[in-house]
Amino acid sequence: MAHNMLRAVLLGPPGAGKGTQAAKVIEKYNVPHISTGDIFRANIKEGTELGKKAKGYMDEGKLVPDELVVNLVTDRLQKDDCKEGFLLDGFPRTIFQAEQLDKFLSENGQKLDIVLNFKVRKDVLIERIAGRRVCKSCGASFHVVNVPPKKEGICDVCGGELFQRKDDNRETVENRINVYESETAPLIGYYEKQNVLANFDGEKTHNEVFEDVVKAIEAK
Ligand code: AP5
Ligand code: MG
Repeated sequence: MAHNMLRAVLLGPPGAGKGTQAAKVIEKYNVPHISTGDIFRANIKEGTELGKKAKGYMDEGKLVPDELVVNLVTDRLQKDDCKEGFLLDGFPRTIFQAEQLDKFLSENGQKLDIVLNFKVRKDVLIERIAGRRVCKSCGASFHVVNVPPKKEGICDVCGGELFQRKDDNRETVENRINVYESETAPLIGYYEKQNVLANFDGEKTHNEVFEDVVKAIEAK
């Protein structure tokens, strides 16, 4: 596979390492990173209508309704920079979203190369999310113990200020994990049937996980 031709989806529960692996994959394969969570957070920060609609759901750890998500992503996928591929992070998250994505791709003569699915146990997810710190400027993810920044509170990538996401508290995390189990986990079977699923032990170190990811992409 040519290095700039990758159409991929990152799948996994909150805290599984989707954002962490996304940063590495887009650097190696030179495709745009489309994170619906990041797009919603940017809209909340800017105070847009979309941000106002999404905020309540996100703060409670619920999914934003499908009708606010699907067009947002399909519009984004029509931009020129997605012609050579893309990396979706946090989308699709329901069977309906996956069906809409398939419809869009087939109408455009495209299909997914691979769905990267990260498995991590619940107690590990909770510990990771509790320690996560995110860059205000570039969105890079760190962890106070597992992936510490070189300088406390400061982003290694861009020097921005690190903060804790509003939905990264214990109660909301429980909701997000439950929502993942009921709404998103069924996508594993959905993509298994399409023969595009690749499973990863997301509890290895982030560099080991990335090595496994590259092997799986190269094998496709
Ligand atoms: P979103 O932003 O997508 O959040 P999420 O799915 O809950 O996932 P996270 O970002 O929490 O986890 P991650 O897998 O990216 O982990 P990370 O790499 O940061 O969605 C937020 C909300 O937006 C949703 O709840 C919903 O309301 C809404 N939304 C978004 N998309 C939607 C959609 N399609 N439909 C409807 N609603 C939608 O890593 C976590 C931590 O672990 C970090 O501290 C990191 O440093 C550390 N870490 C990472 N890898 C490792 C490793 N291998 N070993 C040790 N530590 C590690
Ligand atoms: Mg993320």
